[in-house]
Amino acid sequence: MKALILVGGFGTRLRPLTLTLPKPLVEFGNKPMILHQVEALASAGVTDIVLAVNYRPDVMISVLKKYEEEYKVSITFSIETEPLGTAGPLKLAEKILGKDDTPFFVLNSDVICDYPFQQLAEFHKSHDQEGTIVVTKVEEPSKYGVVVHQPGHASRIDRFVEKPIEFVGNRINAGIYILNPSVLKRIELCPTSIEQETFPAIVKDGQLHSFDLEGFWMDVGQPKDFLTGTCLYLSSLTKKNSKLLTPSTEPFVYGGHVLIDPSAKIGKNCRIGPNVTIGPNVTVGDGVRIQRSVILKGSRIKDHAWVKSTIVGWNSTVGKWARLENVTVLGDDVTVSDEVYVNGGSVLPHKTIKANIDIPAIIM
Ligand code: GDD
Ligand code: MG
Repeated sequence: MKALILVGGFGTRLRPLTLTLPKPLVEFGNKPMILHQVEALASAGVTDIVLAVNYRPDVMISVLKKYEEEYKVSITFSIETEPLGTAGPLKLAEKILGKDDTPFFVLNSDVICDYPFQQLAEFHKSHDQEGTIVVTKVEEPSKYGVVVHQPGHASRIDRFVEKPIEFVGNRINAGIYILNPSVLKRIELCPTSIEQETFPAIVKDGQLHSFDLEGFWMDVGQPKDFLTGTCLYLSSLTKKNSKLLTPSTEPFVYGGHVLIDPSAKIGKNCRIGPNVTIGPNVTVGDGVRIQRSVILKGSRIKDHAWVKSTIVGWNSTVGKWARLENVTVLGDDVTVSDEVYVNGGSVLPHKTIKANIDIPAIIM
């Protein structure tokens, strides 16, 4: 089977992390975001994966080469000379996606869930029409694509409305599709939106169906949602009794839902959790409190620091008695001095913060 992942641009909404690494390589749950998708695709039997990007992906190419062997998949980079939107990249990859008449998967690169590829493929086959999109329910549908169904039809989509201004429903496009190669005939090789152009055209012909997602889902392309997505992911691992999680019997684990890399060192009298991931080679001092946060590779959290709803970027240092909260994001190699308070700061790489940041701000 074949798949295309829409990797897109520079991931500006996930800055300052994406100033250091392309978004797909930023670790979510201690693993590059894209690896969650590659693993799930491979285990559903996908052998050809196209990564649709619109910049030179040198770093990504070198990282993903090793996954090709590990997961026995072929990964091709399809590079756009101008951004082709969410449909144009499918046309650009027509040689691979259309090489036979079997359907292919399409994924937005920033969505996290328990990817239901196998069931999706079976359902798609059962209705035998052009496309199936995965849908999930959200409370605030206006920042997504919303699907509306025909009365009496459980799955056939009647309308697809991208980013509706008025409420039309709360079942939204989860950014995961399976499409027949015939869809490629509907797309031209130019900047095109699958949501604004292709889906409405398929809907008009009565050929687009929905598939309800079970379990959690999140678009993790922004820091606030990245943290929420981390909580949902860790809860899901807890429900599955995953061995990846750090056991609650560890004296520093507080409230569960904690994922700590075995190479990280944790000091005495710490309280870590709930909802925390700690990457490789992180050092946590004594008496540290961390909750609802992501601490990336190589960082250091000194004694008695208090960290909540924060992403600490790679190789950063948080000083003694420092206090970080309210969706603070530290880029690569940032230092927060001892006793400093940061409220919703977004700190660019290599900065040193010596004074309090009392109101949310970008620190350049
Ligand atoms: N290759 C390529 N080229 N990829 C692109 C381009 C482009 O020009 N533009 C966007 N992408 C990729 C993004 O990187 C992302 O993976 C995906 O296409 C969707 O773009 P976003 O910018 O993240 O869109 P969104 O989050 O506002 O909305 C989309 O996702 C929602 C679910 O999270 C839509 O598909 C909505 O309908 C959907 O509900
Ligand atoms: Mg998105």
